Amino acid sequence: MSPSRKLIALVVVLLAMAAVAWLLLRSGDPTVFASGKRVHLADFRGTNPTGVPPSLAGADLVARGEYLTRAADCAACHTAPGGKPFSGGLAFKLPMIGTLYSTNITPDAETGIGAWSDEEFVRALHQGIGKDGKHLYPAFPYTSYTLMTRSDALAIKAYLLSLKPIKYTPPPNDISFPFNQRNLMWFWNVLFKPEHRFQPNADQSPDWNRGAYLVEALGHCGDCHTPRNLLYGLKSHQKFAGAMIQGWKAYNITPDQVWGIGDWSDAQLKGYLSGGHAEGRSSAAGPMGEVVDNSLRFLSDVDIGAMATYLRSVPSIGNAEGIAAVQTPLVAKGTPKVAFLDAAIAPLGLHVFEGACASCHSFDGNGVVSSHASFLGSRTMNDPAGTNATQAILQGAHLRVAHGEVFMPEFGNGYSDAEIAAVVNYLTSNFGIRASALTPNEIVKRRQEN
Ligand code: HEC
Ligand code: HEC
Ligand code: HEC
Repeated sequence: MSPSRKLIALVVVLLAMAAVAWLLLRSGDPTVFASGKRVHLADFRGTNPTGVPPSLAGADLVARGEYLTRAADCAACHTAPGGKPFSGGLAFKLPMIGTLYSTNITPDAETGIGAWSDEEFVRALHQGIGKDGKHLYPAFPYTSYTLMTRSDALAIKAYLLSLKPIKYTPPPNDISFPFNQRNLMWFWNVLFKPEHRFQPNADQSPDWNRGAYLVEALGHCGDCHTPRNLLYGLKSHQKFAGAMIQGWKAYNITPDQVWGIGDWSDAQLKGYLSGGHAEGRSSAAGPMGEVVDNSLRFLSDVDIGAMATYLRSVPSIGNAEGIAAVQTPLVAKGTPKVAFLDAAIAPLGLHVFEGACASCHSFDGNGVVSSHASFLGSRTMNDPAGTNATQAILQGAHLRVAHGEVFMPEFGNGYSDAEIAAVVNYLTSNFGIRASALTPNEIVKRRQEN
């Protein structure tokens, strides 16, 4: 073949691959699974699903912005451990790509967003483009915020600008070639970024529409709970089927009865979202503990209810093989079994539990200090890989809830890999369907994941 023919052939092949990728991978609108007619917000005749709840309708712009900033959980990523809220510097370690740092979004004119115009701010949230015109990386969930209305984005800006400016420049990013070519994001956006603002569904209830806006445009729940494809785009046909995040399993939250949260009552689901604990089921620790602590606990009851309504409407996914799928415990078990998985490890697990854990969790797993500390019916106890149990023990937990604070110390520093493996195996064998068989080496690996 002549060189020009080769080139043409190459271009044809590349175009065909791009077309196939587009058809297979494209995410599109996150509510596309729902039947009914989606319309522009301006043409929607029902209650406006965007903005703040009715209780705040008369509040000033900054107060409305505060509610929306919390619902969108901007603080989670723009606050480094031990750092000042919104001043940035949290590291995002992306495998093979490098390390990216969140930016300072306090009103400091030099290091923050004090000098940003409204247009620039809205463009960042809607298009994923920074002040200098460069593409931002999707570790910043603009693929969700693009659904947000302009007025909600500007309320968030007004709130952020009402805060104390903090002069702080996060460390420079360390991203390898070719990923450091921000222009590549242009192609990525064609595949994975919805091209429009939130579109209400004329045939769904007001509650559903409000829930959809909260979950998709603000809460970006899919960012952690939906698995990603090789190009880091969300797999839209596996919406909320569960994914790994910072060494934790962000479980399947579809309405599947066995693998998802289908058998949770409304009270359980709302209790979990607003307070971090579903009575008789799971408690929120790790990244989800932070979501509750920074964001969901501030939402009105009506908004929490709307989110629950929406979550229950997404397609059920059984997904027994999914990376973050853990079966729902059929019966909450209360009585410790005496049969241990590995005779060499079990006595050590019991020993650690007795000395360091039983005072708060009690031998029957009921959780003496607070209902949050109950192991009964918790999905985490029923994970034969012991993933979130290991992380909770390594990192501890701390969340503020309506009736006070919930706290567990971290045991990562004071306890050996063998002790942690043993206590996780002890817990899963006593309170789960199938015991884990973690080895000390496994704990070494998990320490590096978080
Ligand atoms: C899941 C993590 C995450 C959340 C949640 C998040 N951000 Fe970010 N944000 C980032 C990261 C990471 C960057 C840096 C992206 C880059 O450099 O390409 C960023 C960048 C930005 C930028 C660009 C700043 C600049 O100097 O270029 C703005 C503005 C911004 N975020 C505002 C917000 C607002 C407002 C919210 C809440 C509505 C929010 N972010 C929520 C992770 C997050
Ligand atoms: C930063 C990542 C992250 C985000 C964002 C996130 N989650 Fe989670 N979620 C998790 C993790 C991790 C767990 C497991 C927590 C644990 O085991 O303690 C979890 C657990 C849950 C559970 C309990 C599942 C079970 O069976 O135990 C529910 C329900 C849930 N999330 C709903 C939501 C909703 C609704 C949103 C959006 C408002 C959301 N999550 C946003 C990471 C996240
Ligand atoms: C000071 C009291 C306290 C001590 C001591 C304590 N815990 Fe906890 N633990 C809690 C509380 C409270 C929670 C619930 C945290 C939440 O809601 O996020 C919890 C949660 C957990 C979880 C997550 C449970 C789930 O279902 O998601 C595991 C696993 C766990 N603890 C194991 C241990 C082990 C093992 C020890 C001893 C090495 C221990 N804990 C010591 C109070 C304690």
